[in-house]
Amino acid sequence: MTPALRHVTKISSLSPKEIKGVLKLALEMKARPADYWDALKRRTLLMFFEKPSLRTRVSLEAGMTSLGGHGIAYMTGDSPVGEKESYEDTGAVLSRMCDAVTARVKSREQVTGLAENSTIPIINALDDYAHPMQMLADLQTIVEHKCDGDVEGLTGKSLAFVGDCQNNVTYDLMRSGALMGLDVRIAGPTGFEWEIEPSVLEECAALTKEHGGTVTVLKTAEEAVAGADIVYADSWMSYGIKGAERDRRMKALMPFQVTPELMSKASTSASFMNCLPAVRGEEQLASVIDGPQSIVFDQAENRLHAQKALLVKLLVEGL
Ligand code: CP
Ligand code: NVA
Repeated sequence: MTPALRHVTKISSLSPKEIKGVLKLALEMKARPADYWDALKRRTLLMFFEKPSLRTRVSLEAGMTSLGGHGIAYMTGDSPVGEKESYEDTGAVLSRMCDAVTARVKSREQVTGLAENSTIPIINALDDYAHPMQMLADLQTIVEHKCDGDVEGLTGKSLAFVGDCQNNVTYDLMRSGALMGLDVRIAGPTGFEWEIEPSVLEECAALTKEHGGTVTVLKTAEEAVAGADIVYADSWMSYGIKGAERDRRMKALMPFQVTPELMSKASTSASFMNCLPAVRGEEQLASVIDGPQSIVFDQAENRLHAQKALLVKLLVEGL
């Protein structure tokens, strides 16, 4: 039987129970990949890319291969989509040809546009607002490194994000924490362009009320990191940021750079995470990302396992 249609536009498109189900399957698939070699046999995933990617593109394409299916990377620069062809029509057309779609696009409206007339799952692969597949990989990595492989162990773990707060990864980390019972602390520069959108704060307040995590916005990196189990940084120059904007950002974000000194304020067993790509000397120093506390390459690898699990849940098992 085909599972009920679900779209994943942000991590909170999934309930905590569904996220735990995906994580358990991801751990199982990572341990025994050969058991799933035919899980998506003859299924096709269409992957939209309006922005660059290494991990998302390769992990999805390799994931579809290892599940017996096929992934098509579709660069929107070569296509009529978003110009002559609306996202709504595109979702309807792809529903007649493919089994699922991932979309890396500039704005959340493009993802909802694709979903509007789609009868197959639409999964956000990063927009201006969310990065849910990254979240599944991050949670899997935290379960492996901090919870002895037990998804229930996520409750009560503390995660500090420092840097650019008006950001897709930050927003979905806040939602993830609220959903999974984590204590999430955020710190970055202040001022209008750096502020977290009020609607995201409202969303997180509602999620924490329902599910029990905490999300706190603090002024300094030191306050956010104090005693944390995980210190998380994301690029200061998200895809598309160029020119003079780079110098301005460097200046505003430098107090939030992850240095060994900042890491020393976290728990003595703290781990360092970055969704990558990373620039040494910007959001963190080389001694942090290349040091013993860094788990960034496990995090990158888990993109493969977590996404395979999500696709199998959406297309075969149901969430
Ligand atoms: N973390 C992440 O999404 O990486 P890519 O931009 O390389 O896909
Ligand atoms: N915030 C970053 C994440 C990259 C995976 C960006 O949007 O470029």
